[in-house]
Amino acid sequence: MSNIQENYSLKNYNTFGIAAKAKYFAIFDSILSLKEILKTNLHQQEKFFILGSGSNILLTQDYNGLILHNKIEGICILEDNDNDILVEVGAGVVWHNFVMWSVSQELSGIENLALIPGTVGASPVQNIGAYGLEVKDTIHKVTALEIATQKIKIFNNKDCKFAYRNSTFKEELKNQFIITKVEFRLSKTPLNKTTYGAIEQELKNNNTEANPKSIAEAVINIRSRKLPDPKVLGNSGSFFKNPIIETNQFEELKKEFPEMVGYTISESKTKVAAGWLIDNAGLKGYQKADAGVHKNQALVLVNYGNASGAEILNLAKEIEEKIKEKYGISIEPEVNIL
Ligand code: FAD
Ligand code: EPU
Repeated sequence: MSNIQENYSLKNYNTFGIAAKAKYFAIFDSILSLKEILKTNLHQQEKFFILGSGSNILLTQDYNGLILHNKIEGICILEDNDNDILVEVGAGVVWHNFVMWSVSQELSGIENLALIPGTVGASPVQNIGAYGLEVKDTIHKVTALEIATQKIKIFNNKDCKFAYRNSTFKEELKNQFIITKVEFRLSKTPLNKTTYGAIEQELKNNNTEANPKSIAEAVINIRSRKLPDPKVLGNSGSFFKNPIIETNQFEELKKEFPEMVGYTISESKTKVAAGWLIDNAGLKGYQKADAGVHKNQALVLVNYGNASGAEILNLAKEIEEKIKEKYGISIEPEVNIL
């Protein structure tokens, strides 16, 4: 078990900065090295977890099993047409670095997703999204190793069953496949998706035309102002998903709370801004010991220093209860709780 470490600190491997340990910790940077780890059969004797950058997890206790940490690198162009390119990216590549690579090649499709922390391999798992785009719009194929059979399986876009902050990898296939690479189709024609949030205003302030680079820069500026930097204040981005409710229920609630923020997503469904629900319930800035609700963005829970994962989880449960009581809406964590 030469490259499998024991009793390993995860403090630098989760953006909440929780001081928890893993019983076993192993890094792989290729399918070969992954198979070497799996040869030990440790994953059959112990529970296991696939870890990217730990920017969407909450460790509520020491991890009594094997952490498999993905470091598969590489960006490789597979096809180059008049209209677009097909590019294959190693699952351990830092997502933001891939976005910056795409922008430097004057390609379009992921520029609105700049500065999202994490790895390329985790991007399909919850179908990362921001500023009017989701990664499902550019994913062509996902390649993954099935742990039970150690065979490689290719998932096309449809097989991934992408939805808002969800995919088959988070549902029925959870913890069964290790994503090793992802293929993206990026356009040579700029999408220039600027209607969401403050992008247009930011471009105006910067006196720039819309293009993939200026949009990425605008998104980076907006995000840096709105969201806490995990290096400074531990957090995992939005702790909860925005709940999707019946439009009838939303309209009823609007009578009592005219300011409530919601987005129509189909004829009968409305997505409600959970940040607004928490904020309007008076919980923005609420703090219990070192666990808190961020003072500028109520959807983000933060670790002010030495919070344990259990304390953050207790705070999350308290918020869920208060939201249910006040609005009759159930909110669910987006973050993976371990
Ligand atoms: P991890 O946290 O390590 O893992 C997340 C999940 O994916 C786990 O279930 C893990 O088992 C699984 N997983 C990871 N790698 C693999 C693999 N190779 N194969 C199979 N399963 C795997 N998310 C958004 O969608 N939009 C945002 O705007 C956004 N903003 C954020 C801002 C901040 C400040 C932070 C801290 C987080 C934000 N997030 C956002 C959440 C996070 O960035 C994403 O969920 C990201 O994709 C997580 O990547 P990761 O490598 O850190 O995954
Ligand atoms: N709002 C408040 N008070 C708050 C926070 C938000 O009133 O404390 C209101 C805002 O004024 C706005 C609405 O709620 O009207 C939505 O807020 P925002 O635009 O900040 O977006 P969000 O819904 O809180 C979502 C994603 C983010 C993503 C942004 C930008 C989810 C769960 N979160 O946040 O993703 O970056 O939109 O597209 O869908 C993440 O998933 O970790 C994440 C950060």
